[in-house]
Amino acid sequence: MLDEITQLRQRAEKELEAAGSPAALDEWQARYLSRKGEVKLLLKSIGRISDPEAKKAVGREVNLLSRDLEERLEARRAGIREEERARRLEAEKIDISLPSARVARGRLHPVNRVLREICAIFQGMGFQIFESPHVETDEYNFQLLNFPKHHPAREMQDSFFISEDLLLRTHTSPGQIHAMRACAPEPLRALLPGTCYRNEAITPRSEIQFHQIEGLAVGPGVSLADLKGVLTEFVHQFFGPDRKVLMRGSYFPFTEPSVEVDVECILCGGAGCRLCKGSGWLEILGAGSVHPTVLRNGGYDPEEFTGFAFGLGIERIVMLRHAIDDIRHFFSGDLRFLEQFA
Ligand code: DAH
Repeated sequence: MLDEITQLRQRAEKELEAAGSPAALDEWQARYLSRKGEVKLLLKSIGRISDPEAKKAVGREVNLLSRDLEERLEARRAGIREEERARRLEAEKIDISLPSARVARGRLHPVNRVLREICAIFQGMGFQIFESPHVETDEYNFQLLNFPKHHPAREMQDSFFISEDLLLRTHTSPGQIHAMRACAPEPLRALLPGTCYRNEAITPRSEIQFHQIEGLAVGPGVSLADLKGVLTEFVHQFFGPDRKVLMRGSYFPFTEPSVEVDVECILCGGAGCRLCKGSGWLEILGAGSVHPTVLRNGGYDPEEFTGFAFGLGIERIVMLRHAIDDIRHFFSGDLRFLEQFA
């Protein structure tokens, strides 16, 4: 009888190993473990054994067999499920190894880079950044800056008028009035960067939009010497510690006296070349002492306060630094141009 059990176990185990599908497992289960299966039949046949000791031993063996086979069946079922899953994964596999389309990485526009660089230099000298509107009234853009209606100095700033009274700002100088009115009567050091607009013919040297940075300092005793010190420090930080600075007399309605500031040519170092047209100097900005009328318009008493102001064009500085020969590149959106400023 025990031999019979061993044989049955061997046969059942071998067939279970061979069963490769859920259906084959069901069939195997019916054959061995169902109510009429071989293990049950074996159990029944125990009744015929007369020796109680032998009966007990055989009974234990059959029960063990039954439990083992149940366990093996479960394990085999799990194994087959796993095999099937692996087969399906293999069959449904997609190849994701193809490199994806490259996403172009953007970066700051060269004008914005220089704008930020210059702001950082003046921030280091205590200037605070202000923003002021791109659409201005005639009053702020001109009148409060001492350009009355029909003043010839308006001729230099051909404007885009939106209505009789509104225009796109032609310079960042109206920001001076906004900043003063926000701060008076406290002293101030303000920096006003931004886009300006003029109705110009578009040529390699002029665009209808461009960027300026306006600087303004107001306080008791602020002088032209302070202006020279601040601008010299700026030139040394931005163009190099050895660059000389030249102030020449000029005219702007909102400053008195007015100056134009040149920096020693960055190409020839002052000897004279094509870039500086032989003069050895490059003009970089306009500046001056704030006109008393403008101080008053900003809310300061010109008897008590004085100030200096300056305005510099960014595109020109970027063009000088990178030897760019045509201002139209900046707004063409041409990646071949922009990608050179990595
Ligand atoms: N606003 C002037 C322009 O666009 C530039 C300028 C000159 C600004 C002198 C100033 C200044 O603040 O003092 O032509």
